[in-house]
Amino acid sequence: MSDLVSRTPGWSLPQAAYTDPDVYAADLDRVFAGQWLFAGHTAELDAPGRYLTVDVGRDRVIVVRGEGGQGGALHAHHDVCAHRGSRVAPDDRGQVKAFVCPYHQWVYALDGTLRSARLMGDCFATSSYRLAPVAVRETAGLVFVCLADDPPDFGPFAEALEPRLGPHGLADARIAVREHYRVAANWKTLVENNRECYHCAGSHPEFSLSNFDVGVNGDVRTNPRYDRALAAARTRWTAQGLPGEDVNFPGGAPYRIARLPLRDGFLSETLDGRPLAPPMGTLTDPDVGSLRVISLPNLWAHANADYAVTTRLTPIDAATTDVELCFLVDRDATVDTDALAAVWRATSEQDWVLCEKNYAGIASRGYRPGPLSPVVEASVEAFLDWYLATLDLARTAA
Ligand code: FES
Ligand code: FE
Repeated sequence: MSDLVSRTPGWSLPQAAYTDPDVYAADLDRVFAGQWLFAGHTAELDAPGRYLTVDVGRDRVIVVRGEGGQGGALHAHHDVCAHRGSRVAPDDRGQVKAFVCPYHQWVYALDGTLRSARLMGDCFATSSYRLAPVAVRETAGLVFVCLADDPPDFGPFAEALEPRLGPHGLADARIAVREHYRVAANWKTLVENNRECYHCAGSHPEFSLSNFDVGVNGDVRTNPRYDRALAAARTRWTAQGLPGEDVNFPGGAPYRIARLPLRDGFLSETLDGRPLAPPMGTLTDPDVGSLRVISLPNLWAHANADYAVTTRLTPIDAATTDVELCFLVDRDATVDTDALAAVWRATSEQDWVLCEKNYAGIASRGYRPGPLSPVVEASVEAFLDWYLATLDLARTAA
């Protein structure tokens, strides 16, 4: 395995890291099953019995709101019947009073306990069986699950996220647009693409209207005009009670939370810079820039004052990744959904085309690892460092 993914520092990974089924299996086992994964939104689990599902290779996790509405406990279970193993969730998402296994009709309460099992004889102890639990947390309106028996500490991430994203009110928001994509590329290709903006000027005209070409993570260039805009914006944001400091993969942790200014005249990542909906949550001033959240390995999000967009990755196989894009607005807002999704739908679809072209080349006979830019791809390097460390492999100089 180590030969398959070893690399020279500063260079992209060897082909097998993206294409080999054994590496993909290790990715699922050590990276996806070992980390907190973004599952969905508090806003879509806002009533008892509302559930969603997350796939991690062959594993499927059900996340369901228990009795008591949004204040009720959140439960996560393996979607595996305790009788003979059938899936029990009726769909990818929905609302149920209980989970009734479609095979022999064992009935599970929302908290996963077995409520009834017919024709199992007089000695059968219903209380001895349940859906196997999975660790679940929610913070600032985002829901995460972890398949590990001993999950990493979620506390520091929640403590960093809550004061920064919490004021955006995602927990009480509404998902106005949901898009699904199937991308013909390895999941790491999508993350690498997200981790650099080397490609932005050439490929993202809509995104580049509102966003500076500098200042993104991993871009070591300095630009006095951007630095002045950031300093002035931070003064305004601090006056609104928003934390002035960004959180940038602290101590090698897999998350970054950063508020960046938009270009002059832009209050939101929209085509003309004008907000499309009222400020969300407890925000009152639309001038809050764009809060970027990344949680490796499967989430990135941008939160403007008027809308937020989340991107969830689900690996399907070494060469295929499913993506779910959700646009959230204030629960009571009436919004033009085409205008709302215009920038990030276009930007995302442009990225999927780039990723598919990238992966086609990576998977071909002509691919060799190539050099990363020390100027604008430092965050790709950081991602690959994190990935290899998470696989628990020493990086090996070629
Ligand atoms: Fe679920 Fe039999 S497998 S009731
Ligand atoms: Fe992009």
